[in-house]
Order: sequence, then structure tokens, then C-alpha cells
Amino acid sequence: MKFFLDTANLGELKKAVSWGIVDGVTTNPSLIAKEGRPITEHIKAICDIVDGDISAEVVSTEADEMLKESRELSRIHKNVVVKLPLTRDGITACSKLSKEGIRINVTLCFSPGQALLAAKAGAYIVSPFVGRLDDISAIGMDLIRSITSIYKTHGFTTQVLAASLRSPLHVVDAASAGAHIATMPFKVLDMLFNHPLTDKGLEQFLKDWNRVFEETPAVR
Ligand code: G3P
Repeated sequence: MKFFLDTANLGELKKAVSWGIVDGVTTNPSLIAKEGRPITEHIKAICDIVDGDISAEVVSTEADEMLKESRELSRIHKNVVVKLPLTRDGITACSKLSKEGIRINVTLCFSPGQALLAAKAGAYIVSPFVGRLDDISAIGMDLIRSITSIYKTHGFTTQVLAASLRSPLHVVDAASAGAHIATMPFKVLDMLFNHPLTDKGLEQFLKDWNRVFEETPAVR
């Protein structure tokens, strides 16, 4: 499973890239707005930090405008994947753009039916939102399980990107559910490292080592 960071913050991206485990980035209009820079300039900066698929989302809502904006976004860098919302206009634009060879991430997916539309439209990626379903007392991870099963049955090549992940458990469950990609905030990626027994074990290793070798360096 690929790990993507769901952020447009350059500091977080640089830190996570230093760990050597980041395969790509997803952004959305809210995340870009948070950084306060023009999208073209900011997506280019992200592409210079992370060598992988970088999702940049349109803000147009009409198909013709989406086509124009998508082509502009895809020209920023070869790694740009254009994000379109799962609406009638978004699917219309996706169907056309995928035939032009522009890779599309169809986002704001909340049902298996919507995911079927994305696959039929030739989406490169579909982004089902787990956390926002959990937020309304639905079982978000069931959506990932359903989509991966349907895609496997019918041989759809659209990648399932588990999005709106809020915890390390979401990441693990997305892996178990067969998601191709998990996108997560920096905080969640950082939390994956944490376990008290790892810290305790390392502390004891070093204490035992130091008791012998630090006190009698010649033995080392
Ligand atoms: O970027 C798409 C998705 O990951 C947003 O997550 O936490 O705002 O629902 P969230």
C-alpha cells in the first residue's frame, strides 16, 4: 500500500520525506487555501519536495470549465494528478480527460455506486472518504472493503485511495481492506511510529549495554 500525505504544508512534507516512506501527496482546496499561496506556485513547490503522484483539485463546477482548469493543472508538472469531485460534471470531465491521458483522482466518493461511476469514467484514482462517513455514524471502512471487492471482481484498474483517515488504526484497517493508497495528515503518519514498548525496550537495551561496556570501555 502506498502512503500519501494529505497536506499542502511544505514543512510537514519535508519532514515526512526525510523518513523515506512517502509515495505521494493529496491536496484539496481547503488545504491549499490554508497555505495562502497561488495553487500553481504551491503545487510546483510540492512537486520539488515529493517525487510521486501529487493531487491538485479544480475549483470549477461546470464540466467545460473543469476541462480547462484540469489541463492547466496537469501542465504544472508530470507528477500532477488532477482531482475532480464525484458529480455529473466531474464524471463528464473525467471521461474526456482520461482519454487524453490526463490522470484523474475522483474525490468526495461516499458510496460504492459513486465508485463504479469513477471506474467507468476511467479514473486513475478514486478517493472514498472514510472519516467523514464515521462522523455521521456510518462505517467508513465498509466503503473501502466494498469498493475493493467490486473493483477486483470486475477487473477495474482504478486505484482505491483511502482518504479522510483520522488515526493509525484507520491506516491499518485501510491496508487490511485492500486499499492501494492511504492518504493521511502528517500527525497520523507520525503517530504510526509510536509504541510505549518500543521506547521501553530500547531504553532497557541501552541501560544493559552501558552498564557493561560504558563502565569497562576496554571490554567493548
Ligand atoms: O483530502 C481529502 C480528505 O483526505 C480530507 O480529509 O479529514 O478533511 O475529511 P478530511
